[in-house]
Amino acid sequence: MDLNTQAEGAANANSARLVFRDDLLAGRTAIITGGSSGIGLGIAEVFGMLGANLVLVGRKVDKLEDARQILEPTGAQIMTVSSDVRDYDSTQDVVQQTVERFGGLDILVNNAAGNFHCPFEALTPNGWRAVIDIDLNGTFNFCHTAFQALKRSAWGGRIINISLSQAASGWPGSAHAASAKAGVTALTRSLAVEWGPHAIRVNNILPGPIENTEGLRRLYEVRNEASKELERMALGHFGQTDDIAQACAYLASPAGNFITGCDLTVDGGRWLKRGWV
Ligand code: HXC
Repeated sequence: MDLNTQAEGAANANSARLVFRDDLLAGRTAIITGGSSGIGLGIAEVFGMLGANLVLVGRKVDKLEDARQILEPTGAQIMTVSSDVRDYDSTQDVVQQTVERFGGLDILVNNAAGNFHCPFEALTPNGWRAVIDIDLNGTFNFCHTAFQALKRSAWGGRIINISLSQAASGWPGSAHAASAKAGVTALTRSLAVEWGPHAIRVNNILPGPIENTEGLRRLYEVRNEASKELERMALGHFGQTDDIAQACAYLASPAGNFITGCDLTVDGGRWLKRGWV
């Protein structure tokens, strides 16, 4: 198969999956933390199909390399960086490398998260700290280090924080994650106002349980709670990574120009049915 035919084949496969036109994010550069698996990888795939340059951040080099191979058919330019969002200096390096390689930064997706089920009285100070450090301080680190680059984006910088509806309701058994995400909510709303004059839009996406993700596996499947959780879905099924990714694409695109400081819930109506395990 010649290169043109191969490129056409990839473009056709991309268009079949997309709900947006396939140049929606052309020319933009996106950093996606936790981009080597689950929701982060799903966002990377859709952003890549929509023409964005991708910077994937994750802790494990082998997982990042696997992700690069999965993403290559999108035709995107891909950079992978092994980095821990908890390390401020390392997030500075990621932003600097991004600007050096792609000439700028337009979209930051703070997706990296730690979470595990643990009754509060059994949670150790270090367990609490680990989740707060990843989910909340990691979001601070990347927002803080990306500011100057996002300010220069020709399209208006975008920050999309992947949060949880439990940030508002609390989450018995995952108080650390709910508390960290409540902090992210406050950070999102504060930055939306502070950075509005710089044309940077800052929003939260609130996913429900998503198939084939570590969150669903460790919080529900391994605890034999998945069928009970399914009963709490208003739509009667779990989500797909594409459901979250296309919502992120919407916020990152010109359709999101007038949206800042919002919580976009993409959870199949899960939060309305309530009930925790
Ligand atoms: C109790 C636990 C624990 C568990 C870790 N700890 N796992 N305590 N139960 N299952 C404690 C450890 O004992 C330790 O405390 C402290 O947390 C730090 O653990 P480490 O493993 O040393 O740290 P680290 O390598 O930094 O990793 C911690 C972690 C990790 C980030 C929490 O478990 C992790 O990476 N989880 C996977 C990430 C994940 O699930 N992401 C998806 C989230 S999705 P001590 O005191 O012993 O030193 C999500 C949305 C869900 O949140 C939506 C609904 C489905």
